[in-house]
Amino acid sequence: MSPVTRVAVFASGGGTNLEALLEALDPHPTAEIALVVSDRDGAFALERASRRGVDTAIVTHDDGESIIELLEAHAIDWVVLAGYLRIIPSGVVQRFRGRMLNIHPALLPKFGGAGMYGERVHAAVLEAGETESGATVHLVDEVYDHGPIVAQRMVNVKPDDTPERLAARVLEVEHELLPEVVIAAAEGRIRTSGERAWIADE
Ligand code: GRF
Repeated sequence: MSPVTRVAVFASGGGTNLEALLEALDPHPTAEIALVVSDRDGAFALERASRRGVDTAIVTHDDGESIIELLEAHAIDWVVLAGYLRIIPSGVVQRFRGRMLNIHPALLPKFGGAGMYGERVHAAVLEAGETESGATVHLVDEVYDHGPIVAQRMVNVKPDDTPERLAARVLEVEHELLPEVVIAAAEGRIRTSGERAWIADE
């Protein structure tokens, strides 16, 4: 039997994506959430973790070495950024290259990059007159919201959408997509070739 893959989730806010992961992996034969990290003391994500008995940590400064030490102390195999608003130090990106995922609430490479978070993303999608939006999970590299795209899921933009309504509809598909990708990662089914990534059946 293969060992269980230990996942750390980084979240700055409410943590509904974290909740979807906790739900999907509690229990799961190949993956477990072993650590939840936040940059904000009061982040509700920390409360969600504690309720399930998952270890938590608060990172207050961007010191790559101490983040690596924290992840190693918890024997973390994969890192998932789920609404984490701080830049991950490049030393951590290097150490976890190919083993770090981010979820973004739009169809990257559109509507990503610095300043593109929260409702701003959805407002920009509406402003641009897009007919489709969605969620993207990608491998993390040194560039914000960049790196090989592993999976995307689309939603239709409706004529009467507001940023709030579109955000809610995208969030629903985020909650399906992220656990699927994390389970695929734990099962060793994420493949990469240069800038391309995909999920293999087995
Ligand atoms: C999600 O839309 C995620 O894609 C983005 O930040 C939001 C976090 O929501 N990066 P939550 O904290 O998981 O509820």
